Parts: sequence; structure tokens; C-alpha cells
Amino acid sequence: MAKKVTIEPVTRVEGHGKVTIHLDDNNQVVQSRLHIVEFRGFERFIQGRPYWEAPVLVQRLCGICPVSHHLAAAKALDVIVGAGTGNGLTPTGEKMRRLMHYGQIFQSHVLHFFHLASPDLLFGIDGDPALRNVIGIALEHKELAVQAVMMRKFGQEIIKATAGKKVHGTGAIPGGINKHLTQEEKDQFLNGPDPLNVDKMIDWSLGALEFFKGYHVANKDLIDKFAAFPSNHVSLVRKDGALDLYHGVLRGIDNDGKKILNDVDYQDYLEYIDEEVKSWTYMKFPYLRSIGKKDGWYRVGPLARMNTADFIPTPLAQKEFEIFQAYTGGKPNGMSMHMHWARLIEILHSAEMMKDLINDPDIYSGDLTVKGTKQKEGVGVIEAPRGTLFHHYRINDDDQIEMANLIVSTTNNNTPMNTAVNLAAKQFMNGQTEITEPMMNAVEVAIRAYDPCLSCATHALGKMPIDFKVVNKNGKILDHKLKNGE
Ligand code: MG
Ligand code: NI
Repeated sequence: MAKKVTIEPVTRVEGHGKVTIHLDDNNQVVQSRLHIVEFRGFERFIQGRPYWEAPVLVQRLCGICPVSHHLAAAKALDVIVGAGTGNGLTPTGEKMRRLMHYGQIFQSHVLHFFHLASPDLLFGIDGDPALRNVIGIALEHKELAVQAVMMRKFGQEIIKATAGKKVHGTGAIPGGINKHLTQEEKDQFLNGPDPLNVDKMIDWSLGALEFFKGYHVANKDLIDKFAAFPSNHVSLVRKDGALDLYHGVLRGIDNDGKKILNDVDYQDYLEYIDEEVKSWTYMKFPYLRSIGKKDGWYRVGPLARMNTADFIPTPLAQKEFEIFQAYTGGKPNGMSMHMHWARLIEILHSAEMMKDLINDPDIYSGDLTVKGTKQKEGVGVIEAPRGTLFHHYRINDDDQIEMANLIVSTTNNNTPMNTAVNLAAKQFMNGQTEITEPMMNAVEVAIRAYDPCLSCATHALGKMPIDFKVVNKNGKILDHKLKNGE
């Protein structure tokens, strides 16, 4: 008889879900599922609204990723107002948006690494739950806690200066941006009182990487073996193959590094990507049409980006990228916990990008917007902190949105997260039928590596809690525990 274990609210994950672990007659894990149990139809909610409202409205999708949705929607509407994609904007429009985006990547990755991930690393998967959180970090690693707060603050100030507000900004508009950066802001970001200046951010990003690399040497089993598996990887890359988080062509590679999505135009994403619906969850399962439902799934996010990109166009991050690549001899890296390493390289890259952009004269003067021949339909794709984010809109003759289709980063990582959960459950269930604290923690650590935003994935508002169940072949619940979200 097969049995089933369910784990409820996964903590330190944005949103809510359910984990069910299916056991066979010998209490061996046969399958694990991460379910999303709530769905709010944002794509329908936005129908009928004037298209120019979309970049502001879509930020209601998620309190965690508003800037990413703001920019992805604006990029789709650039196409609709005839401004083209990416470098169709004025230099000011594109560079201001990039600065906003790198500020967002920086603060989001910092939040994830220092607040959500580092407690697992510093106190261990089976560490004291009373310490294994951000309070523990503040108590025992004070300097890290202080850096985390200041780095987030810096990223948020960049967002405020470019988007108008820290949350629910209005900076990006169809065809460009609505403001320049001021000389006072420039002075603040470049020469602001220590530690709130961009050079300090670069220093601390390097320090965080050194901390991780030292930790890696001492904890190879956790970092290299836990929830490691082969997969395809997808991201945008710049036309010349450089890492580019704001704009590019879609590239996919398989586990051997072979190109399976050959630098294609994302306006045609529906030709290449489809989504499968399964009865037990509201979160869809995207896959590459050319490979099919079974094997066409892929990973997105920092790890995927390190795998798809040929190089990083800022010098310090490029050096770290070379070390990262050398670790697997240049082969694609499938180790879930290396997502943290990749994220830290992107923190450094974002800090370097912010510095370059703050020093760029185009940010302080020049035309803000462009317009061309109006189109009925447009697709905007961006590399959000959590991975590739698709926004697609079609409008009617009255300028109202008549169709919206979103594929969010976390949805792209649906199969990878299920795979990681199953590997963690297998390792920690070990023939038991009971839900134990170390098993729940291990599953959480596996999910957390992907930094999922379940509120985005369900197109819902606010946070949701996860629930754990162990079930047999006949669906009988053998154990059931609830964990509160934070
Ligand atoms: Mg969707
Ligand atoms: Ni989100």
C-alpha cells in the first residue's frame, strides 16, 4: 500500500503551498508534490483596463516582486506603442529602467541570501529552530545582519529614485520612463555617507561571496549533493551571449550544454514554450515544445543564468563567474544549492552595473520616451530576480486590454522545485511514515534555494502559509503537520 506525507506552510517562502509525500508499501518515497492551493485570476482582472494602466496595476500581483512586473509590463507596452523592444527606447529610457531593475535584483537577492538562506547555512538544516532564522543571524553574526539591512536600503533607494516610490512605482511608462536621476541623487549614491554608497555595496558583495566560498569548502556535502539533479536551463542573454538581466534573446541549453533554444526573439515565445495543467495544483508546468511535456521542463533564475551566459560584462563578477564555471569544468551546473552562489555573483554584478549607470550622463538628461506605430499586441520579458518573467498583452480598438498572459519566474521553476522537494524528502524520510522537523526543514531548504514567490505564481495578493502530508497508495493520510509562514 502506498502512503503519503504532507508538509504545510513552508516557512521563509513567499506565499503558501502544500507538500505531499507519497510512500509505497515499504515506506519508500515514490513521489513528492508541491501543490499550490489558491488561485486569483489576475490575467482576467486586468481585462478591460486601458493598456497604459498595466505597468502600475500589475504591481498588485505581488508585494514581493512589484518592480519586476512593472518593468515586464512596460516592456510589453513598448511594443504596443511602437517603441520596439529593448534598445528601441531612448538611451535615457533604457538606462533608467536598467538602473531600477538592477536596484531591484540587488535588494531582492540580498533579502533572500541574508534573511532567508543564510540561517540554513550558518545553523544547519537540523539547527535549533529558535536560532535558524534572521533573529539568530542578528544575534550571532551581527556584521552580516547590519550589511543586509544597509544593502537592502541602498537597493530600495535606487528603486525610489528611478520608479518614484519604493513600492508601486510609476517610473516606467509605455515607450520609456517619466523622470531623470538628479545630481543630488547621483552625489548621494556615489559619495553618500559610509556605508550608503555604491563602492561600499561592491565591497560587501565581494565579502558575501568570500563568506560563501569559505562555507562551501567546509560544507561540500550540503552545497554540492543536496537536491542536485540534471536539467535544462533557460534565460535571456544579450545578443553576444553576455549575462543581461534586462533585455536579450531567449537561450535554452540542456544538461550537456547543447543549445535547445537558439537565441530566439521572445515576441515569439508561444512558438517555443507551452504550459501543462495538472489536476493537483493551480501552478502550471511550462516546457519547451520542441522537447515535449515529459523532458522539456527547464530551470530559470540565477543558476540557469550562470549556465546559459557566455560571460558577465562587469569585471569583478566576471572573475567570480570564471571560478564558478571552473568548478564544473565548464559543464552546466545542476546543484540546487549553487543557486545561492550564483545569486551572490549576481549581487556583485548588480552593484557594478548600478555604479556604471549612476556614472552615465544619459541618466541625467536626454529624451525620456519614444513612440512609433501602434501595435495590437506585445510581449515583454525580463530576467526577474527569480528568473525569466513573461508578460503578454493584446488590446482592442478602444485601447483596452482584451488578453493578458503571464508566465512568472516561479511557475517556470515548478518542475525543478517538485524535483528538489522529492530528492530532499527521499533523503530525509528514510523509511519513516512520520513528519519530522529535520525532514520538513530539508524540504524547505530545497524549495527555498529557488526563492519561490508563491504569491506571484498563484497570481494572488499577499502571503499564504504550506502544509505537509504523508499519504499511502490508497490516499490514507499517515501524518499531517502545519508550518506557519513568516
Ligand atoms: Mg499565467
Ligand atoms: Ni512575486
